[in-house]
Amino acid sequence: MRIMSGRVLLIGAGGHAQVVAEALWRMAEAGSGWEPLGFVDDEPTLQGCSFLGLPVLGPIALWREVGADALIVAVGDNATRRRLYLALREAGARFATVVHPRAVVAPDVVIGPGSMILAGVVVNMGSVIGANVILNTACSLDHHNRIGDHVHVAPGVHTGGDVSIGEGALLGIGATVLPGRTVGAWSVLGAGAVAVHDIPPGVMALGVPARWGDRRDDGRWTMDDGR
Ligand SMILES: CC(C)(COP(=O)(O)OP(=O)(O)OC[C@H]1O[C@@H](n2cnc3c(N)ncnc32)[C@H](O)[C@@H]1OP(=O)(O)O)[C@@H](O)C(=O)NCCC(=O)NCCS
Repeated sequence: MRIMSGRVLLIGAGGHAQVVAEALWRMAEAGSGWEPLGFVDDEPTLQGCSFLGLPVLGPIALWREVGADALIVAVGDNATRRRLYLALREAGARFATVVHPRAVVAPDVVIGPGSMILAGVVVNMGSVIGANVILNTACSLDHHNRIGDHVHVAPGVHTGGDVSIGEGALLGIGATVLPGRTVGAWSVLGAGAVAVHDIPPGVMALGVPARWGDRRDDGRWTMDDGR
């Protein structure tokens, strides 16, 4: 059963988690029924710290013992966030959905559990957002977008209508995806890139127009978009 209100424990206490905590405070003020409880994080140097009046309560393994009604995995890296989300879900955790009161989300938009929609985001009609997704500050998704689980749409990204983003993809800061295009699962669209063609899965695509390739033995990328 989906949980709609209660005390939310943030998994992670880094920069992104602090942004999510701030969104939770704004949601609490707006009467959403959600309020932040604190953070858990495995980083030793964070133990005993507090941010926005919220304590780091201990390592992640303590999540069951701190009186939380729901969790949010507030970690920016998509693979790490996926791993934590799936492990916690398997262990019986329930997840909050964070929607900053200053986001504009059309009424028919479907949002999966554990997803974070931050300040200034716009999501238009008919869009479907998966689980454990980050829609970061001031990005906009136009109508009928389909956003896979564990995706990160970074600040200032814009997508046209009918765009599909595969599981785990990262759209970097300020990237643009033209209407009807697809970005494949676990691909990275670099900061400022413009996807004018469909981007296949598992590549890094850069530039205007975005071109992509493979990582070579020397660690550099061949930018060969196969056209
Ligand atoms: C694309 C990206 C993932 C590459 O990261 P990386 O693998 O560490 O790459 P490097 O920084 O080593 O750069 C490799 C080369 O690509 C170039 N490059 C890096 N990012 C680029 C970009 N966005 N557009 C064009 N070229 C880029 C670098 O100049 C470098 O080229 P050079 O070797 O000729 O100097 C990264 O630069 C990026 O854009 N990340 C998005 C980050 C983001 O938005 N995160 C969300 C924050 S909330």
